[in-house]
Amino acid sequence: MKDNEYDYEARVVSSAMTEEDAASELSLRPRTLDEYVGQTKAKENLKIFIDAAKKRGEVLDHVLLYGPPGLGKTTLASIIANEMGSAIRVTSGPAVEKPGDLVALLTNLAQGDIMFIDEVHRLQRSVEEILYPAMEDYVVDLIIGKGPAARSIPLSLSHFTLIGATTRAGQLSTPLRDRFGVILKLELYTHDELALIITRSAGILGIEIDEYGARELAARSRGTPRVANRLLKRVRDFAQIVGDGKIDRKIADFALGRLEIDKLGLDSVDRRMLEVIIKFYGGGPVGLDTLAATVGEESVTIEDVYEPYLMQIGFLSRTPRGRCATRLAYEHLGIEYNPAPITADFTAAAPADPDDGQIKLD
Ligand SMILES: Nc1ncnc2c1ncn2[C@@H]1O[C@H](COP(=O)(O)OP(=O)(O)O)[C@@H](O)[C@H]1O
Ligand SMILES: [Mg+2]
Repeated sequence: MKDNEYDYEARVVSSAMTEEDAASELSLRPRTLDEYVGQTKAKENLKIFIDAAKKRGEVLDHVLLYGPPGLGKTTLASIIANEMGSAIRVTSGPAVEKPGDLVALLTNLAQGDIMFIDEVHRLQRSVEEILYPAMEDYVVDLIIGKGPAARSIPLSLSHFTLIGATTRAGQLSTPLRDRFGVILKLELYTHDELALIITRSAGILGIEIDEYGARELAARSRGTPRVANRLLKRVRDFAQIVGDGKIDRKIADFALGRLEIDKLGLDSVDRRMLEVIIKFYGGGPVGLDTLAATVGEESVTIEDVYEPYLMQIGFLSRTPRGRCATRLAYEHLGIEYNPAPITADFTAAAPADPDDGQIKLD
């Protein structure tokens, strides 16, 4: 199963899933909430909701998971099913083409089953509308016949839990979002949490790694478990060829240097993006679409994959007029800090508008 269809998978630090990941992710995926590292807030809340639902003998309320790719949404969905002792059916927004497809999926659910819809923001409107009564009252309206003779027959469904996952909660329609009783935002992971994940994965894969090696990888994994696991596998290759197979700080640093992943986990694409903002646009602001065209990436990729981490480490800010590189970004790239003069309306900062494709550059 692909997380999305963009072509940025060649990047070692890409958070998109590759074929290779798909194979090993099965074994690396935690199966219980206790094995699931980090996301303390989401986990604690989930535990309570799961226990309460079980105690009442009811199904769990519908759950929406959102956050950047590779943070553990799919993993958490199967953990929820596991903890509830429920069967899980998996599909994704783009895979459900017609309302009838979804009706077929829903009518096949048994009491307590979990329906997982990945990329739920990409459901077509006509398909999405099937979900409203299904989520609220466990019914679907079956349309029989065509034109004026068409009749709608309500069909009742077993009580089920919908788990939706999305990288962009903002793109979800309000009626759909409102029907999720539990909404959980996944955050980028800390270095400590990533080091734990790396050590655990190394154990499963039979890779020898010491604490310093794990910390070095953790610091360069962009807050993302999927990236951490991928770096672990790449660095193991180096350890086996140029070292004695064991990953320590030195080998990790050497290997990541070879892969052109810098101390903070930025690769050449991240650096180019920051350089474009600084060198072509005086540090910004520059509109998303302009930036995307200049670095040759899709706007959605920039928003979902590159920006969350760059913002997290304080290298990039989103302003009403576009993206800006911060002083930290200049310093990291070794460029003297002399941004374009700040104009009055730029400082009167309204909340950042992520969809600033229309922003005009002066
Ligand atoms: N909290 C976590 N603890 C340990 N490993 C994790 C965690 N979250 C994610 N992973 C690892 O990262 C991989 C990617 O997670 P996944 O659930 O597929 O992300 P998403 O669906 O958000 O793109 C998983 O296969 C798993 O090995
Ligand atoms: Mg996923």
